Amino acid sequence: MEQLSLFSEKTTNAKSRRHSLRVQTSSARTGEGSDDWATPGYVVEAAESFLGGIGLDPFSDGEDSLVPAKRKITKEENGLVQPWGSENLTPQVWLNPPYSMMRPVVKKMRQERERTNEFLLLARNAQGTQWFRNLLPIATCYGVFDHRIKFVGASTQAPFDNVLIYGGGDRIEEFRDCWKEYLGFCAMAFWIGKE
Ligand SMILES: C[S@@+](CC[C@H](N)C(=O)[O-])C[C@H]1O[C@@H](n2cnc3c(N)ncnc32)[C@H](O)[C@@H]1O
Repeated sequence: MEQLSLFSEKTTNAKSRRHSLRVQTSSARTGEGSDDWATPGYVVEAAESFLGGIGLDPFSDGEDSLVPAKRKITKEENGLVQPWGSENLTPQVWLNPPYSMMRPVVKKMRQERERTNEFLLLARNAQGTQWFRNLLPIATCYGVFDHRIKFVGASTQAPFDNVLIYGGGDRIEEFRDCWKEYLGFCAMAFWIGKE
């Protein structure tokens, strides 16, 4: 009897291990949970160096964040609603927003354009999407990472490619020089007047 219960305990444990492995594997494959994945240190460092300090992270994980922004707007404060800058204070902006919210994020970026300075946006590489097209009028150039990023909080490398988009300035050469270690290519962002 005891042997039987030991056997069924083992079977249940093996089943639950298989189940949790399946869940982990499938979320690693789809990128589920990526809305909360944080930017790894090497990307944060390069962003800080390129921007000469980060004034604002409007989609922040708050106190635990690796992003050394002067101002961080959390989910509770809602970066889609708060003003990002003012006439007198136009911050350098770092964005790695929740990827499920790209359309409202880009709409907000356009609304805040006059009240912000330069921006860097880390996002999924999705050049065929409406949000990407909507971003083009305010973008200068962009590059696609030459590797799949392992975000902080993710168990594996992302199952998608990432793009880094720069806007609000014309420092194209500096963008290329600063990011060439991590990007596979860099391209100008030309808007052809179609949204
Ligand atoms: C992909 S993570 C990136 C965090 C950080 N920006 C970074 O670069 O490491 C996106 C963060 O945005 C936060 N967030 C979600 N909705 C938000 C909102 N409406 N306003 C501000 N932050 C939000 C999430 O809690 C999450 O921590």
